[in-house]
Order: sequence, then C-alpha cells, then structure tokens
Amino acid sequence: MAQFQALMKLAELPLGSMRAVTVGAREILVCHTREGVFALDNICTHAHARLCEGRLRATRLVCPLHGASFDIRDGRVLAPPAEVALPTYPVRIVADAIEVAVG
Ligand code: FES
Repeated sequence: MAQFQALMKLAELPLGSMRAVTVGAREILVCHTREGVFALDNICTHAHARLCEGRLRATRLVCPLHGASFDIRDGRVLAPPAEVALPTYPVRIVADAIEVAVG
C-alpha cells in the first residue's frame, strides 16, 4: 500500500492555486479548491503537456496544449481531445501539511 508523504504546507498553496511536485519518477499536481485539496498526475494523458502550466477553474483543470479538461476530484475527462482519465492520489491534511499517497 502506498505511504502518505508530506509534499508541502497547506499555507504554501493558496485557495484556487496548484503546484507541481516531483515524487520519485512522477510529477504530481496538487490543487487547492473550495472542495478540498486534490492530487493527480501533472502530465496530460493526451500528449506530454504539463498541466501545472494550464488553468484551474474551480475543480476543472484545463490543459495548456490542446485545451482538454479534467475534473480534479476524480481525474475524469470533461472535454476532449484527451480520452483517458488522469490518475489521482489520496490526499490528507495532517498538522497543516498536505500529505499524498503516491502509489
Ligand atoms: S496535451 Fe493536453 S490536450 Fe493535448
């Protein structure tokens, strides 16, 4: 089972913002929204674009390259051209630290 690890302080990620972190061989995107904090892959499933360079609108994440969008709560595709959902990771907040279980 994946272990939770602290990636950043909650205070370092203002509401409405996102930030990419490298964990091992993966780039993880952590997003802070009114609905909570969510973590998912930072690389678009359509081509090799970094989603941290896109836009976050509430819980919708828009790819900077061809404009696909994803729901950050479960990674599902909301708009093409991407067809494959983004992998998501469990998040918990412990003593003001954002911890993510990266499998
Ligand atoms: S690389 Fe993200 S939509 Fe094409």
